[in-house]
Amino acid sequence: MRRSRTLIISIAAAAAVALATAAVPAVGGWRSTAPQDQSLRALAGEHGLYIGTAIDVGALDDPTYAKIASTQFSTVTAENVMKWDTLEPERGVYKWELADEFMAFAKANHQKVRGHVLVWQNQLPKWLTDGVTDGSISSADLSQLLHDYITTVVKHFEGQVWQWDVVNEAVTDSWDSPAGQITYKGFWYQHLGEGYIADAFRWARSADREALLTYNDYNIDAFGDGGPLDKTEFVFQMVKSLRQKGVPIDVVGSQAHLSTRYGNYSPFQIADMLDRFATLGVATALTEVDVRNLMPQVVTGDTINPLLQAQAYDFSALMQGCLSSRHCLSYTVWGFDDGHSWTNTWDFGLGKGAERMATLYTADYQPKLAYSAVQADLAYSGAPRVLSRIPQQPKR
Ligand code: G3I
Repeated sequence: MRRSRTLIISIAAAAAVALATAAVPAVGGWRSTAPQDQSLRALAGEHGLYIGTAIDVGALDDPTYAKIASTQFSTVTAENVMKWDTLEPERGVYKWELADEFMAFAKANHQKVRGHVLVWQNQLPKWLTDGVTDGSISSADLSQLLHDYITTVVKHFEGQVWQWDVVNEAVTDSWDSPAGQITYKGFWYQHLGEGYIADAFRWARSADREALLTYNDYNIDAFGDGGPLDKTEFVFQMVKSLRQKGVPIDVVGSQAHLSTRYGNYSPFQIADMLDRFATLGVATALTEVDVRNLMPQVVTGDTINPLLQAQAYDFSALMQGCLSSRHCLSYTVWGFDDGHSWTNTWDFGLGKGAERMATLYTADYQPKLAYSAVQADLAYSGAPRVLSRIPQQPKR
């Protein structure tokens, strides 16, 4: 008697979970037809989650690179070729070739595209920055140029981009906020004031009614103390105010460039951050995940490698946080192998190349511990705590 009651209760509970899951349509994801497919893309697809990578278009000639990029990931981001200096190197002269090559790769492999990036202070064409410096481009001209650029680019790719990074890295960090508080920063703010952010989202929406429009930034992986130097809180208030004014912002992208040198994130902190942004009506995405390691990371002998373990933990904390938050639509790594990572040539304060090996695969394409950690998170999670994604409707 007792046994059958328990059975009935568990069947009822399972049915309730199934109903709750069924009531909310999954956002999609990429589902493999092969039941034994253990790729990240197939496993993520079971959660309706898109898993992505930044693509170095120059590396697509390498068959191993192209194979991993196409089989493991269901969404892709152009690492550099959809930035302003590449798309419009001369005023009024657009060069679409590399970006179109990237789009063709995504299309051939049934991958969704995260468009990166419309408004950023880096990788701007020289004609633009020189024109502003020498005064030949006034503020009014600059605003018109930004409008025309956004409209031209978004229209060119209309219907092919799932999420656009519309505005990228618009605010200061705690260490570069001399006034003792987080504020706006960069080329666009200096010349146009903070109004450019709302304008950019509105112009992007006019050019594409379907794409999800994203505000993307780094160091917003967890909320801090809520004080004047809490960057995540600043971005939260900024997005809240933009949404209240009707600005069409659909997604907050947390880049998640981490390092084993800093912090100890827990999956719960990541989940709290994602869930709290979702209270504003936006979806979320982890957009540029990597975890830099201090060199050297090779430990000889039979001991475990603490750096590889620490790195795997961070990748996993981010994945678990994302899986737990139903509005987290995608988890994108910023390059998947150590041979093609921006960290190889960047100086993070300890000299170039001192902190690197930040990705899921070694330079000779062997999956690292971080790969297995992420793969296991995807394989072994599910109801009742991990449910399928909730789709985001573009705000119009
Ligand atoms: O294309 C030129 C080439 O013509 C020249 O000969 C060569 C010599 O230095 O430089 C090449 O440009 C480099 C470009 O990548 C393309 O490879 C730039 O020097 C280099 O600075 C640039 O780095 C990119 C960086 O953004 C620029 O800020 C990285 O690859 C790219 O991964 C990185 O990505 C950013 C995201 O867009 C936004 N979030 C942070 C993330 C990491 O910094």
